[in-house]
Amino acid sequence: MAEKKAEQYYTPPPKLGKWEGFRIFIWNSETHQFLGRTGASWGKIILFYILFYSGLIGFFLAMIAVFYQTIDLRIPKWQQDKSVIGNNPGLGFRPMPPESNVESTLIWYRGNDERNYKYWTDELDKFLQVYKNPGTVPGDGKNTVHCDFENYPGDKVCYVDPKEWSYCSSENHYSYHRSAPCIFLKLNKIYGWVPEYYNDTNSLPENMPKDLKDHIQTVENPHALNTVWVSCEGENPADVENIGPIQYIPRRGFPGFFFPFKNKEGYLSPLVAVWFERPTTGVLINIECKAWAHNIRHDRAERRGSVHFELMID
Ligand SMILES: *[C@@H]1O[C@H](CO)[C@@H](O)[C@H](O)[C@H]1NC(C)=O
Repeated sequence: MAEKKAEQYYTPPPKLGKWEGFRIFIWNSETHQFLGRTGASWGKIILFYILFYSGLIGFFLAMIAVFYQTIDLRIPKWQQDKSVIGNNPGLGFRPMPPESNVESTLIWYRGNDERNYKYWTDELDKFLQVYKNPGTVPGDGKNTVHCDFENYPGDKVCYVDPKEWSYCSSENHYSYHRSAPCIFLKLNKIYGWVPEYYNDTNSLPENMPKDLKDHIQTVENPHALNTVWVSCEGENPADVENIGPIQYIPRRGFPGFFFPFKNKEGYLSPLVAVWFERPTTGVLINIECKAWAHNIRHDRAERRGSVHFELMID
């Protein structure tokens, strides 16, 4: 009776040394257990995990497949006013100040010192590289055709000709060494966005700068009026005085044959190089550039339709 009672209690395993215990754990020859499990037990648990993870992978792949059925890599699912980016394109400028200073929009250099303006011309070289070698974009440039206002690209994309940039070309250092820098403007791409052009010379908006209105009046080819116009101005009276004459190269806007953007292979956004021919040196000049179409609203806070930067040449 006393013996039976004693059996109900847990009998501690035989006291083993540390090393001995570990050795037994690795391989217990008495029970034929390897790492605490017998061969059959190991077989079952391995089989379980194989099935379990196969199930998970299968389920995951099935979900991915269903998801891919619903999207097209070239066409955004959410477009225009349904999308986060909306249908009011932003305007951007290059060269941009160093990334270490993301909030800065100041372009500042000494005109007579090559090492000093090299940062800016290098940035432009980098940005314009794809324009000089359209073969490096998807489609190898094979999809690219020369367009004009009578010849829209159809299912191809339009060529942007770097040779038209003259004073604003890399060969001319973008005129930075003449204290007459070129700033490139680019309208952000919005899939399927079609500009509503200011192409009626009799009804241009009140707030459009006079020099742009005058320019539009001089356009002879009526088809060439189908352009998203561009204006750059000094922000304050002092800036207006300091900014000096401006040229827009190759033309004063983004021509209509580049729109709408349909994410076709090889598409490159049209650019406007704004050449500040004789800005006053030694002062900071606040500049605002705007893109003009009926369906572009200017909103500085939201950075839509216009862009602000400062220019300072010592
Ligand atoms: C002027 O622009 C509107 C809207 O963008 C367009 O529908 C129309 O065809 C254009 N007019 C001419 C003469 O090209």
